[in-house]
Amino acid sequence: MNFNARTGDSDKLASACVVVGISDPRRLSPAARQLDKAGQGQLGDLLKSADIDTGCGKTTLIHTPKGSVKAARVLVVGCGKDKKLSAQDFDKITAAAAKALQSGSATDAVSFLTELEVEDRDLAWKAQRTVEATRDALYRFDELKSDAKPAKHPLRKLTVVVNDRSALAEAKRGVNRGIAVANGIELARTLGNRPGNLCTPSDLADQAKALKKDYPALKVQILEEPAMKKLAMGALLSVSRGSRQPAKLIVMQYSGGNKKAKPVVLVGKGVTFDSGGISIKPGAAMDEMKFDMCGAASVFGTVSAVAEMKLPINLVGIIPATENLPDGDASKPGDIVTSMSGQTIEVLNTDAEGRLILCDALTYAKKFNPDVVVDIATLTGACVVALGHHTTGLLSNDQDLADELLKAGQASSDRAWQLPLWDEYDEQISSNFADMANIGGRGAGTITAGCFLGRFTKDYRWAHLDIAGVAWKSGHAKGATGRPVQLLTQFLLNRCA
Ligand code: BES
Ligand code: MN
Ligand code: ZN
Repeated sequence: MNFNARTGDSDKLASACVVVGISDPRRLSPAARQLDKAGQGQLGDLLKSADIDTGCGKTTLIHTPKGSVKAARVLVVGCGKDKKLSAQDFDKITAAAAKALQSGSATDAVSFLTELEVEDRDLAWKAQRTVEATRDALYRFDELKSDAKPAKHPLRKLTVVVNDRSALAEAKRGVNRGIAVANGIELARTLGNRPGNLCTPSDLADQAKALKKDYPALKVQILEEPAMKKLAMGALLSVSRGSRQPAKLIVMQYSGGNKKAKPVVLVGKGVTFDSGGISIKPGAAMDEMKFDMCGAASVFGTVSAVAEMKLPINLVGIIPATENLPDGDASKPGDIVTSMSGQTIEVLNTDAEGRLILCDALTYAKKFNPDVVVDIATLTGACVVALGHHTTGLLSNDQDLADELLKAGQASSDRAWQLPLWDEYDEQISSNFADMANIGGRGAGTITAGCFLGRFTKDYRWAHLDIAGVAWKSGHAKGATGRPVQLLTQFLLNRCA
């Protein structure tokens, strides 16, 4: 799929489909007005006869525009009540346009949707979102279908059109960012969607090597279990011992910034299947625990997008990858393990495994002398209870860092919401037998998990993103979402500005 930007008039561009917005009551965008004029008032007539729905995100396809309109089709997207759009409205509009284009028969289109006014958003943002929404609508995971049929009339080319030359560079910048971020999102989705038998810790390690093939500037290192033993990563190894697949600690380094600039370190939970271990999970929907590596997938996606955009920043991605399975040799409730930090942990529940692998990876992160560390994990079912499927849980030991991430979430429509990390909660993970327990009782499960990680991140500015509710969808549309690649890439882009 090809994206670009150009200047031009809506009635004069020869294309299979021209996309314009109309709001309520009968407010034509400048490009729509021009089409109406060239098309003998056709749009106005269709509005009058109520054949165009101006509801936000409603689409109407006009097959044979009248008059001198050059395009073969006009896709009208409703923009709702006539006002400045919110970023969410714009997302709804671009997503609806993308879906209509994808299911229609036009294989190329020119879009004037970036002329719509959106609160607090510039042209580059609108161009970026247009690309991301289109790629999202076109995404399919069919690599494991034996009869995968390509779409009959796939959209092959989308051109974002702006009205003057001065805006063109900005639109192009947005389009290129959109392509890089969409590639990152797609990579994260595809890794997430792959089943546990085809996405093992070793497969993730291979993925890191594959990424290095695409971006030779990346440095990739895979630490095997003997190396982890040497580093005394007793918490991480206590999870992997129940599995026949060897754990991997994957390290990817991108050095686009000043040699002396401290890196941002991203740590992604890579549990390629979480059965719960000896504290085994109930069977219903257990298949969805193949998505328990979506934190790792988001690190892959973000590293890929950053490398593609050649951002002037230093970035390290660390992925502890393992399965969590029951076995005669698996860790048992009550076992006490010693983490790389030297702190001991009583494993009261083997299903609270994410924090066990993350704590050693977070200790390992110190070696990179990080400016900030952000971990990303499908960590707690409690986060889904607290925040549902719309927002990522955010916990941090540094309010400036938390604010940066919240802002990036707002800007990218991939939002997070902060929860507190207070001492009262930390007390919940005390243990009679070890320095701490790996669970904190019934209340505030997301926060006590954060408190646990907080005991390993005292030496640097750190934030934790609990993506349990947002990383994938269940039911009819089951599949990985790629979140929070949008948030993370925006966070890193902001740091470069
Ligand atoms: N991977 C799960 C968290 C999870 C569960 C994410 C359901 C999304 C949907 C994690 O490893 C886990 O099992 N957490 C336990 C912690 C509990 C034992 C304290 C949970 O949330 O039940
Ligand atoms: Mn678990
Ligand atoms: Zn898990």
